[in-house]
Amino acid sequence: MRRLLVTGGCGFIGSNFVRYMLREHRDVEIWNLDLLTYAGNPENLADIENDPRYHFVHGDIADRATVDRVLREGIEAVVNFAAESHVDRSIHDSTPFVRTNVLGTQVLLDASRKAGVSRYVQISTDEVYGSLGPTGYFTEETPLAPNSPYSASKAGADLLVRAFHHTFGFPAIITRCSNNYGPYQFPEKLIPLFICNALRDEPLPVYGDGLQVRDWIHVLDHCRAIDLVLQKGVPGQVYNIGGRCEKTNLEVTRAILNILGKPETLIKFVTDRPGHDRRYAIDCSKIERELGWRPQISFDEGLKATVDWYLRNQDWVERVRSGEYRRYYELQYGERLKSS
Ligand code: NAD
Ligand code: TYD
Repeated sequence: MRRLLVTGGCGFIGSNFVRYMLREHRDVEIWNLDLLTYAGNPENLADIENDPRYHFVHGDIADRATVDRVLREGIEAVVNFAAESHVDRSIHDSTPFVRTNVLGTQVLLDASRKAGVSRYVQISTDEVYGSLGPTGYFTEETPLAPNSPYSASKAGADLLVRAFHHTFGFPAIITRCSNNYGPYQFPEKLIPLFICNALRDEPLPVYGDGLQVRDWIHVLDHCRAIDLVLQKGVPGQVYNIGGRCEKTNLEVTRAILNILGKPETLIKFVTDRPGHDRRYAIDCSKIERELGWRPQISFDEGLKATVDWYLRNQDWVERVRSGEYRRYYELQYGERLKSS
């Protein structure tokens, strides 16, 4: 069995990754270390929680004793998804971003190095590169120029990972992916928020002129890329991952309304996000060339499937929106959650 520590496995991408890995690799056993913040929902993995190859640990990546305890399970590789991930929240209060994204990564790196893990993958973001004008792409050589407290904290983590590889020869790899969408995404991010609002005939708050550009990738294409990096990536390297799918926010908004058959009168232009990055676009030719990865899910097909998932899982949405999903953990594990 390959023993893997996944952190933040109860969040959006982490839960998709845990499910993907258990399905694709019979020889993988996973420990999921998650603090269960507002974004962490153990219900996201309800279908696999009784799998003998899956182990859940409730804890903080910034807590050294907990991290050491999990690593003593004979962990060979670590994939760090755990993070505060929402730009708007980081504008409101950057404290938990620095604590989890920077300090948490440092604790995890230090503990993993001392435990002698053979591979560490840091899940980073294209947002560390800052904002692009109307042309050009982020490559792995683009200088880091983060603009939000969220992206600054992720860039800080990336620099620590880089330094651990340079100083100690620690076998760490960084991936930087563009905007993900798909099932189990917390309905505070653009796509799930707009799907959920449109379903209730509530306004879709488009920031500024809605002409900001993001490069969208389906979460399962991202999971396949991380799996490849884990197996074949070269320590010390950075791999950009993107969907080759640039869309303005208005295009995405109209596509959602169109699938649901809802009117454009639901679009409500609101005050822009402070410091809003105008355009992200990823050059992912390195991972395509070196590891043979390609995005496989088209935006049209992926968005339809995602809308369909939210339609079929309105109970999940209700429990997440009301905060009631936290009771799932209490009932399952008989432990009260600390408020976070
Ligand atoms: P998410 O907010 O849905 O999930 C984050 C998870 O981390 C939650 O389960 C939360 O409980 C857990 N967590 C938070 N603080 C923790 C701590 N101190 N210790 C342990 N667990 C903790 O995030 P996501 O969208 O799934 O993103 C996962 C990772 O991917 C993040 O590192 C993010 O920066 C990166 N990323 C996200 C996107 C995207 O579009 N969502 C794109 C590129 C990169
Ligand atoms: P988001 O999903 O928060 O991801 P990120 O800011 O990390 O790219 O937002 C995606 C884009 O959608 C971004 O340009 C901000 C915009 N947006 C809105 O216009 N309205 C909203 O309510 C939200 C959440 C985002």
